[in-house]
Amino acid sequence: MLSREDNELLCRVGPGTPMGALIREYWVPAALSSELPEPECAPVRIRLLGENLIAFRVSSGAVGLIRNHCPHRGASLFYGRNEDEGLRCVYHGWKFDVTGACVDMPSEPGESQYRSKVRAVTDPCVERGGVVWTYMGPRQTPPPLPDFESNGDDCVLQVYQRECNWVQALEGDIDTCHTAFLHLGSVERDDVPPGTWGRYVLENRAPRYEVAETDFGVMYGAYRPAERETNYWRIANFLFPFYAMVPTGVLGLEQRVRAWVPMDDDHTLFISMSRGGAPAPRNAGRHPIGPPEVLPNTTDWYGRFRLVGRADNDYLIDRKAQQTVSFTGIGAIHLQDQAVTESMGPIYDRTQEHLATSDLMVIRTRKRLIDAAKALRDKGQAPPGVDAPHVYAARSGGVILPRDADWLDATKDLRKARAQHPQLSRSVLGGIPAV
Ligand code: FES
Ligand SMILES: [Fe+2]
Repeated sequence: MLSREDNELLCRVGPGTPMGALIREYWVPAALSSELPEPECAPVRIRLLGENLIAFRVSSGAVGLIRNHCPHRGASLFYGRNEDEGLRCVYHGWKFDVTGACVDMPSEPGESQYRSKVRAVTDPCVERGGVVWTYMGPRQTPPPLPDFESNGDDCVLQVYQRECNWVQALEGDIDTCHTAFLHLGSVERDDVPPGTWGRYVLENRAPRYEVAETDFGVMYGAYRPAERETNYWRIANFLFPFYAMVPTGVLGLEQRVRAWVPMDDDHTLFISMSRGGAPAPRNAGRHPIGPPEVLPNTTDWYGRFRLVGRADNDYLIDRKAQQTVSFTGIGAIHLQDQAVTESMGPIYDRTQEHLATSDLMVIRTRKRLIDAAKALRDKGQAPPGVDAPHVYAARSGGVILPRDADWLDATKDLRKARAQHPQLSRSVLGGIPAV
């Protein structure tokens, strides 16, 4: 349980808030490169950290991110003409480049120098692995980009909008215990071959936990018996300020990270970046599972990457399936998570919670975020990872360890990015989702 005050501090990200200031210290994945498919294409409305921004790709291919309101008299630059290395406001023709410089002011007399005194607010952008990253923070020279191994050339991206606070959404990724219920509640032990990791999960749905603080954030290991002398460990990470590496798959093979980017206090953009992953299994027991269905993007502030299943259609719940083959009756893993986290409300009132031993990771992650936001606010202390991009070169996943092994020591090499482990295989998983 959190105090009302700490809950507010944890969740709110707009300009001037402590958590908003913390997140602005980092590079933030703001959009996909494919949303701006070519030079001088249509600008895109981007809602990010409670601000309205316009993304545009100029003639040379560079991407700019500019405040929605034109610095002259406030018309939206969304309607701007994207021409010759800049965005021209259609109201009086003032034109801005990606750095915010006013490069043309045709409504003023030719001898006017006023143009050199006006600047639009823009944020620097770089593209990597199909993602447009932006830095909205106070430094003149931004810090380095976080060194995620999955955000490279052959990065596979999945993006979905979630209509709730970013912390709520993120907490779903570090709450490992829900997997055996929300996603696998209707799968019986005998649906999965003995000796597989899926079988270990189904034989013991109440694992025990260890949590460790790290230089990127917080890491947990959830363990349960495997065979007579061994335990099956699920190891996963929270990385500052809003990333998760989940415990599914095999530690040492999985290259991925999941960003929960706050659009504002009650909308979140989920961006998954992964590489070299096996296709997800398509059924849980007898219930078919597919990826969530996505609506076409619109130009609305909230029109990007929405799902077909949503609160106003009860996430297309199938009550008959729920009585027979599915725990939830909701048809996609991501949609199941979406339903439960959105159903808490836009920002859950965490004074009402009753946290249990299985919530240890959630508790520690919140505390680290709150402490870091206060340390920045009160002492100007730079938050974890900002100046240490290498800490993001991490991995997560499952592993079998001897009962008496030290989990941190025994997994050191497997948790390092860019290492090859040819002896490992995903055939141990047992062919069900989320394991
Ligand atoms: S409001 Fe944009 S140029 Fe006047
Ligand atoms: Fe989940």
